[in-house]
Amino acid sequence: MDAAAALCLVLILATTTASPAVYAQQTNNGACVASERDALLSFRAGIWSDPQNLFSSWNGQDCCQWSGVRCSNRTGRVVKLDFRNNLFMDDMFDEWSGAKPHAMRGNISSSLVALHHLEYLDLSGNYLGGLGVPIPRFLGSLQSLVYLNLSCMDFDGKVPPQLGNLSRLLYLDLDNTWKPNYHGNMLHIEDISWLLNLPLLRFLDMSGVNLGAIGNWVQAVNMLPNLRALRLRECELVSLHTPIVHSNLTSLEILDLTDSGLYTINPAYWFWDVGTIRHLDLANNLISEAFPDAIGNMTSLEVLGLGGNYLTGVKSNVLKNLCNLRVLTLWSNRINQDLSQFLEGLPRCAWSKIELLDMSLTNLTGEIPKWINQWTDLSILQLSSNRLEGPVPLEIGMLGKLKQLYLDGNHLNGSMSEEHLATLVNLEELDLSYNSLDMMISSNWIPPFKLHVAYFPRCKMGPHFPRWLKGQRDVINLDISDAGIVDDLPDWFWSVFSNVQYLNISCNQISGRLPDTLEFMSSAFIFDLNSNNLTGTLPQLPKRLAELDISRNYLSGPLPQNFGAPFIQDLLLFENSINGTIPIYICKLQLLQVLDLAKNFLVGHLPRCSEETTEPSPILALILYENNLSGEFPSFLESCSELVLLDLAHNNFFGELPTWLADKLPDLSYLRLRHNKFSGSIPVQLTQLGHLQYVDLANNRISGSIPRTFANLGAMAQEIHTFGNPLVWSNERPANPDTSYSPKYDDSLVVVMKGQYLDYTSNVLYMVGLDLSCNNLVGEIPDELTSLIGLTNLNISHNQLSGRIPEKVGLLRSLESLDLSYNEISGEIPPGLSDITALSRLNLSYNNLSGRIPSGNQLQSLIDPESSYIGNNYLCGPPLSRNCWEPDAAGGDIEEHQQEAKYFYLGLAAGFVFGLWLVFVIVLFRTCAWSARSRAVPSRWTRLPQGLELQLRRG
Ligand SMILES: *[C@@H]1O[C@H](CO)[C@@H](O)[C@H](O)[C@H]1NC(C)=O
Ligand SMILES: *[C@@H]1O[C@H](CO)[C@@H](O)[C@H](O)[C@H]1NC(C)=O
Ligand SMILES: *[C@@H]1O[C@H](CO)[C@@H](O)[C@H](O)[C@H]1NC(C)=O
Ligand SMILES: *[C@@H]1O[C@H](CO)[C@@H](O)[C@H](O)[C@H]1NC(C)=O
Repeated sequence: MDAAAALCLVLILATTTASPAVYAQQTNNGACVASERDALLSFRAGIWSDPQNLFSSWNGQDCCQWSGVRCSNRTGRVVKLDFRNNLFMDDMFDEWSGAKPHAMRGNISSSLVALHHLEYLDLSGNYLGGLGVPIPRFLGSLQSLVYLNLSCMDFDGKVPPQLGNLSRLLYLDLDNTWKPNYHGNMLHIEDISWLLNLPLLRFLDMSGVNLGAIGNWVQAVNMLPNLRALRLRECELVSLHTPIVHSNLTSLEILDLTDSGLYTINPAYWFWDVGTIRHLDLANNLISEAFPDAIGNMTSLEVLGLGGNYLTGVKSNVLKNLCNLRVLTLWSNRINQDLSQFLEGLPRCAWSKIELLDMSLTNLTGEIPKWINQWTDLSILQLSSNRLEGPVPLEIGMLGKLKQLYLDGNHLNGSMSEEHLATLVNLEELDLSYNSLDMMISSNWIPPFKLHVAYFPRCKMGPHFPRWLKGQRDVINLDISDAGIVDDLPDWFWSVFSNVQYLNISCNQISGRLPDTLEFMSSAFIFDLNSNNLTGTLPQLPKRLAELDISRNYLSGPLPQNFGAPFIQDLLLFENSINGTIPIYICKLQLLQVLDLAKNFLVGHLPRCSEETTEPSPILALILYENNLSGEFPSFLESCSELVLLDLAHNNFFGELPTWLADKLPDLSYLRLRHNKFSGSIPVQLTQLGHLQYVDLANNRISGSIPRTFANLGAMAQEIHTFGNPLVWSNERPANPDTSYSPKYDDSLVVVMKGQYLDYTSNVLYMVGLDLSCNNLVGEIPDELTSLIGLTNLNISHNQLSGRIPEKVGLLRSLESLDLSYNEISGEIPPGLSDITALSRLNLSYNNLSGRIPSGNQLQSLIDPESSYIGNNYLCGPPLSRNCWEPDAAGGDIEEHQQEAKYFYLGLAAGFVFGLWLVFVIVLFRTCAWSARSRAVPSRWTRLPQGLELQLRRG
């Protein structure tokens, strides 16, 4: 439980004790009132799903005995209805997996208005709302209500002003931040004046309710002098510029304005006056000012959350009087200071009280001071993603209350020994990732702690497997990737870590045979085992597994007919030695988004999924290159309407390309079919695919002419675009990386999930290419091709194309590589060719071109310029030695060696445009997974530039 929640609970308890009449234990003195019983039965009739069997006790006449119902022992009337779904959080996480939910579903019957004495109503966490279902107005008739909790119920529409009739309310919770179905539900308030009728309110939570239409929200809440807690997270608040002269909120203790779009904290703001605020949360806003001195006067502050803003020059000594401070979160702001200096400035009177210090991503420098041991109450220390250096001081081991230690993403060096950890008996989360730390821990050491989170990527743990982890049976997230381990996986590995949700052992040289089944790992969600020396066949997978990457290992044998994991989304098994056919079970994986089986020994036809299931498939990428698969173009793809990337290259597929592509695969952006036996002509329908930006049909048996309609390929006819591309979307990181509170595995999730696919697409994404080389195409090069101004690569070599080079070829400004060699193209080279400043590879060899080679800066700077033109007997002028005025054109100086078609290399110029998301990927995940993968990326996929700087993240 975080501190905020703890405080909140305290407050609720305080509220509870404040109105004993409501909560007192009742000794029921008889049956309930018949009309109230009828009202309750009508309520029950409106609920069509009651997974927790709350209503099973609703038998007999005395409704006061029914569960969730309380009557007054004085009047016998129903005073309390508590149907709260306490397992709501589980529901949130189970949603995707199809696990059984706990929330009630149905409608709230208006019969409740008969409960005139109802003082307490809690329906929270039950999905009694839905798209178009507003909070019922009749709740405004329950005028005895003191407590009303409608949080997390998925309501929609306008909050009814009738709530203003509940003038006795002390507690109102409308928190609507959880929207289970993402169908755009949004509670909103346009006129908040009804709030003024609730003067007794002590607790108000309207998080997730859009208040954007209300300019005067501060004034409205300022009319509630008894308010102790105000939570307005994600309310799209309007930033105010008129200072509040006098604040009524003299009792306010908790103020939560997280994620509310605030971009200024003018000290004249109302809450600075308030000497009572203990808890102030302004995280995830857009505040980009200098750190306000006024905070230093808020001496009651215990919890201060300013993470996820753009504060500059955060000076710790401003806070020097805040002696009650227990929690300080500043992640993702700019402290730009030496850590010791910063810590020294924090209130000395609070050093021994501070429990949570989060300064991730704040550009801190220097070393971790030895006197960190004076922060004796520290239980969470987050220093991730800074520029800290030097060793981790042994003194950190004296912080006996430490539960979470996050030092990842710094430049720390030296070693971590048992001595560092020996007294950290409470440690549950340890993250030392991405430093240069040596784990000097003997294999028989038994740690005093039980870790839940153990992150050691890039730590030097090897070459032996870190056997001291053997006792860590409570681990939920384990990452020992790229840790220099060259060893067998110990036999206890799978049983000790049988509770993991996230497991990453990638990029080591871990060997051993995978067990036949991993089904016993019932919590497993993400497995990344890529780039090791694992053997065996694909095991039976855990039921809830969503991502699996065992690429680049030595898996063999066929894929099992049924390998479990029915909810798997990403299955990456490329570069193994898997043989046999692709089982039809693949068709039953209804959530599968990425399937990468490239570089194996798979044979046979693809399964006929359409016969298996009628459900549309959500698959985004199907990557099967370099196998021995055969058959016609797979027809089951007709039901894969989300498909973006299809790679069947280097197989034995044959037959004609289908005409339904544009109809059935409207989002197809990358189509790679090279080295197969496809025949027939290029279907005109292919050119109706508006997102298609990469087409590679090289080395097939395609005949006919190049359709003129290629000009319709909108994605090729514009500058490179990445936004709105589904592949980008699925990788995109939030602009304000919440490093501290989102589960860490989220970061890695993208790596695991995308694996090869990410490598693949990170390059492909920015490539706009058309490769039709090595086919049997005839006819002319359509002039229309020159409208594809986004093309970076155009290769139509090794065909039988004739006619001229389109006069306007110079319009293809983005072109980096152009290959028209080995055709029968004649005429002169259009002078416009020299306008293409990006061009670094040009091959016009072995055609019938004639006349003077145009000059121009770019053409002169080509690599090996002469070979670009050889085999054209009537070309003249530099760089050829044949002068244009010499009639003898049959120069014997041209060597007749076969020039390999080496120009299909798709060069990405350095410094090319890379979107923010890539930067995130690089910075967040560093390069373990990255560089290891890049090694084996097909050589024509160029690599990403390394070492992009941290500051770009905020770009
Ligand atoms: C109602 O119950 C409370 C708590 O058990 C008790 O203190 C009170 O005396 C009861 N009142 C009546 C009228 O029975
Ligand atoms: C303070 O509250 C009172 C009554 O609740 C209201 O009349 C007054 O205008 C409020 N003051 C300010 C500055 O909003
Ligand atoms: C802090 O409080 C002191 C004393 O009340 C006052 O003089 C000073 O102006 C306040 N500082 C800020 C920045 O509001
Ligand atoms: C980090 O801090 C240094 C000074 O320590 C400063 O020069 C640099 O610009 C800061 N970087 C960012 C991204 O703010």
